[in-house]
Amino acid sequence: MVLSPADKTNVKAVWGKIGGHAAEYGAEALERMFMNFPSTKTYFSHFDLGHGSAQIKGHGKKVADALTKAVGHMDTLPDALSDLSDLHAHKLRVDPVNFKLLGHCLLVTLAVHLPGDFTPSVHASLDKFLASVSTVLTSKYR
Ligand code: HEM
Repeated sequence: MVLSPADKTNVKAVWGKIGGHAAEYGAEALERMFMNFPSTKTYFSHFDLGHGSAQIKGHGKKVADALTKAVGHMDTLPDALSDLSDLHAHKLRVDPVNFKLLGHCLLVTLAVHLPGDFTPSVHASLDKFLASVSTVLTSKYR
């Protein structure tokens, strides 16, 4: 997945609009994932998955912070996300199909909160960006 210069510009611009809401949006995306794709809950059996739980909020912040780091390192994603790649592939062994599900929920969350910015081309760039992040996080799976 190659991000064009226009993709990178789009992703940076829309991420810049999220401001202080990154953690909240991360948590919302997780809640959407658990509700719409219940099989994903199996990875979080040690979490309280009730609406607005402190664990979902805390994890939403971690996911959002990781994505903020990825936005800042779009040219060197494998390097920037190397530790997270080890974690998801070797330790957690998250099946790669789940990344598409979380990516979808992240897109929906951003579309709901930033409708004016979520043009078709921004949508496409964000999708490519999330696919690139997912590729890195699943690259060491086997
Ligand atoms: C955009 C894709 C994703 C990103 C950026 C991401 C990011 C993160 C981060 C930053 C952590 C915390 C690492 C730490 O504490 O050092 C984490 C942990 C974790 N992730 Fe992901 N993740 C992604 C996708 C997924 C998916 C699709 C699943 C499964 C459905 C998943 C399951 C987990 C689990 C189970 C943990 C450990 C939670 C805990 O016990 O605290 N992740 N992830």
